[in-house]
Amino acid sequence: MISTFSVPTKLVYGLKSIDKIGEEVKLLDASRAMIVTDPGVMKSGVVELIKQHLENDGITVEVFDQVEANPTIECINKASKFFGEYKGDLLVGIGGGSSIDSAKGVAFTATNPGEIIEYEGADKLKNPTLPVVAVPTTAGTGAEVTGSVVITDTARNYKISVRSPLNIPNVAILDASLMAGLPRQVAAVTGMDALSHAVEAYTTTIGTPVTDALAIGAIEMISSNLRKFVARRDNLEAGNNMIVASAMAAMSFMWARVATVHAMAHTLGGHFNISHGLACSILMPHVMEFSLGGNINKYADIAAAMGESLEGLSPGEAAAKSVEAVSKLSKDIGIPQKLSDAGVSEDKIEAMTKDAISSGICAFNAAETNQDDVKALFEKAL
Ligand SMILES: [Fe+2]
Repeated sequence: MISTFSVPTKLVYGLKSIDKIGEEVKLLDASRAMIVTDPGVMKSGVVELIKQHLENDGITVEVFDQVEANPTIECINKASKFFGEYKGDLLVGIGGGSSIDSAKGVAFTATNPGEIIEYEGADKLKNPTLPVVAVPTTAGTGAEVTGSVVITDTARNYKISVRSPLNIPNVAILDASLMAGLPRQVAAVTGMDALSHAVEAYTTTIGTPVTDALAIGAIEMISSNLRKFVARRDNLEAGNNMIVASAMAAMSFMWARVATVHAMAHTLGGHFNISHGLACSILMPHVMEFSLGGNINKYADIAAAMGESLEGLSPGEAAAKSVEAVSKLSKDIGIPQKLSDAGVSEDKIEAMTKDAISSGICAFNAAETNQDDVKALFEKAL
């Protein structure tokens, strides 16, 4: 089998790495940056700090701070119009996945004319996008290194994704000091989202030694830091490990893909007001338990990376320990364990099952996943 791997994003990481943002923007030959963010991040003071850094380095800055959670086509169009009038030459996405995806959305609409909807799917963009510097303030989505932009089409009540290597941010600045003000519950569910990226990427049928090394490294770092980070978001050592592990997990899943947890989580997010990280947290142990037989050794590796003692256990017992380890972590950080606790009801299971299968995302799951399997998994997680 021939595999390819590359990470086009330059990672700048470590405490105070945000101090380097002006230098990085200048290396990209830009002088008029537009910050794309949401009102919550705006209030935290992080945007003002970054704006100051950029201006101190002689860069002109404008701020678009109206990104919504799950940004819509209208939201991206509004930001793009603002950017066009400003005549900017670079985007700085600051926040969680929604803000970073919106910055990526403005960057591709600036050079690819027409309607956003024309670019739905894989590899539809024709022209190189404008440069993007991604500054995550959560440790989970991985949007800072991936080429996917998720946008809500309100007309169809559907989330579209525009996927292209051209959408991959040029630079990601991973500085845990920017996450000190993150709400505890957001830290918990976004951390579990990152864990689910690593667990799924490690166990799909198309992983390689390169993606495996990133994924298992991320699993180890997340399992030994997430409790500490949730307990205190100003624990900079734990935060630093989480934000780097989250990018590692994303670099792995860009190539090894995600699987059934994400197929199910995406449709849950379409039908119910449940955050992506929470959906992944609840589904993950159930999907892992279902998938163990597909790759017993790799699930045993996950158990070991999460600190489980496997001495004297059969391979099957060792693999099963990975499910226990994930459930325990999830409970320890206060995450609800049932979909019904998160407002999900039974009536949509049929429709969600169909969506999950037709998305094609289950294709590389460790254990083959059919419609009956997904339905049973939804029922079990309910
Ligand atoms: Fe995810």
